[in-house]
Amino acid sequence: MPDDFERMWGDLAPVGRSASSGGYFRQPFTSPERELHAWFGEQCTARGLRIESDDFGNVVGWWDIRSDDPAVLTGSHLDSVLDGGAYDGPLGVVSALAAIDLMRARGVVPSRSLGVSVFVEEEGSRFGLACLGSRLAAGAISWDVARSLTDRDGVALGDVVAGGTSSLLAGVGTFVELHVEQGRDLVDRGTAIGVASEIWPHGRYRFDFTGAANHAGTTRMEDRADPMLTYALTVLAANEQARLAGHRATFGRVSVEPNGTNAVPSKVTGWLDARCATDAGLAELVAAIERQAAERTEVDGTSLRLTAESVSGSVAFDPALAAAVAADHEGGDWPIIATQAGHDAGILSAAGIPTAMLFVRNPTGISHSPDEHASIADCLVGVSALADTLERLTR
Ligand code: GLV
Ligand code: MN
Ligand code: MN
Repeated sequence: MPDDFERMWGDLAPVGRSASSGGYFRQPFTSPERELHAWFGEQCTARGLRIESDDFGNVVGWWDIRSDDPAVLTGSHLDSVLDGGAYDGPLGVVSALAAIDLMRARGVVPSRSLGVSVFVEEEGSRFGLACLGSRLAAGAISWDVARSLTDRDGVALGDVVAGGTSSLLAGVGTFVELHVEQGRDLVDRGTAIGVASEIWPHGRYRFDFTGAANHAGTTRMEDRADPMLTYALTVLAANEQARLAGHRATFGRVSVEPNGTNAVPSKVTGWLDARCATDAGLAELVAAIERQAAERTEVDGTSLRLTAESVSGSVAFDPALAAAVAADHEGGDWPIIATQAGHDAGILSAAGIPTAMLFVRNPTGISHSPDEHASIADCLVGVSALADTLERLTR
């Protein structure tokens, strides 16, 4: 059924694509992302899958089977980071639909219900909290807290979605997410498919640096309280700390007030994304960066307030499930590899649902960028790998 995958991929290609960069802007509850959700509904209907939505905007298309056995769920997300790639998220959704087509073409009838899920706001690109939809569905965050999260224009989540409850995961016994690989591990190993062992702990931290606005020309250098300096030194400190210890630290978002060329800024806010192999390592990394930032405020005459906006602990995927998914394939077992990226699969795993992830090779190794890629040939290997996995799990 290669045509199914390519036809669906072609349907999605223009939606939310920037004419200048070629990247995607599919922020949750904006029109491109809503268009993708409508498309998903049509695809489910065309396949006779029963659509179930929750109060948060998450959706599952169910292949219902009369059985008391817990259901198997597979899927991913359709939202993107700002100017993101085509594959992060949509590859898992399109592959899930194509895997169902392939199973049906093989004459497979599952012995338990099988669902294709789409979770909203996986990237946290609009409301700041990654995996927001799956956290809400799993009860990992309450609606009372989530409803007041705001986007950059001050619009609250509670203003764009009704909120309430979710029973999407009630009868789910296993979750499988297929995802484009976001590094070069599979390229280096020369294999198209990998299986996830774990997700590194990671978090997002807001650093608010406050100083004093003043004239860029008339204020002597020694008379300034410039938060941009404190911010700049903190960025360098974060980079150095992470490099020395083999962690990850990134300031990828910054806002400056009043943001004028000829004024010393009054405030700089930078968001740190930090990731480590262990929970303790993550806490130490952030504490070390905070310490260096605080020391620098003394030099600059500025002040710092640090807020942990979200921290996701270490996730170890079910090892027996990973081993079973990885074993016995033509050409040998698939490698079992760790990832530093967050996923809805991590949230469901932490909620106690046995979960597995399949990765599809990304020849550029680049992700969260328009250069993210996977060849059609590898995507089709991924569809077949997912169909094999779902067949095993629903037997
Ligand atoms: C999501 O892709 C993340 O790792 O931030
Ligand atoms: Mn993703
Ligand atoms: Mn992502």
